[in-house]
Amino acid sequence: MEVVIVPDAKAGGELVADAMAQLLRRKPDALLGVATGSTPLPVYQALAAQVCSGAVDTSRARVAQLDEYVGLPADHPESYRSVLRREVLEPLGIAPASFMGPDGTAEDVQAACDAYDRQLGEAGGVDLQLLGIGTDGHIGFNEPCSSLVSRTRIKTLTEQTRKDNARFFDGDVEQVPHHVITQGIGTILEARHLVLLATGAGKADAVAATVEGPVAAVCPASALQMHPHATVVVDEAAAAKLEHADYFRYTFAHKPDWQGI
Ligand code: PGA
Repeated sequence: MEVVIVPDAKAGGELVADAMAQLLRRKPDALLGVATGSTPLPVYQALAAQVCSGAVDTSRARVAQLDEYVGLPADHPESYRSVLRREVLEPLGIAPASFMGPDGTAEDVQAACDAYDRQLGEAGGVDLQLLGIGTDGHIGFNEPCSSLVSRTRIKTLTEQTRKDNARFFDGDVEQVPHHVITQGIGTILEARHLVLLATGAGKADAVAATVEGPVAAVCPASALQMHPHATVVVDEAAAAKLEHADYFRYTFAHKPDWQGI
């Protein structure tokens, strides 16, 4: 995998937005896999600025959801469908019809998961999947010890993840659902390009385990080591525990300009 160390979150956002913009210029109807949480926001802001300036056209772009809470109505402000409408679709000018995601309110949750996996395949697969990482190494909501070949399915959140996400629910952990639907690790690995973005010192241990630890279900993000085109973009704080940081800096500094991430 390629590791790019950027000075700060804003620079990380711009780098990833540039990669998305290049993809959309090459393939205007690209399927972008998007993530929720605080980390990806600078990406969406930087891409929205490019849309506003006319540097990129998102009129044919398609967007796929990574995960969703089980049981929150779709119009709940913290359902990930609502969050993505606010943070991605509206700022980027992408029509709701170009959005796909699992149904977190389905009575038959597993049938909804299977249907979503099929829908992703029928759409031609995700071209670029943006990922955050949990402090416990989760990607999507694949918590530690998730199968590395898992498909989209229901998962139970760890107490830590519910505490981490309580800030989106008025700081009240009791309001954070226990269950979620998440693309499986096997599903995520089918995207053509994986871009994991991590910022802040709180992610340093998880990033080190992802990049330099063994491939192990205990750190779900380490599955990226098995992907032929995975890029890990980290700010200095999140890179602080990487033993090979100097090598990663050296490699990126000497990359041919045409190559991109
Ligand atoms: P965060 O969440 O970007 O809000 O830290 C990341 C994640 O849990 O995947």
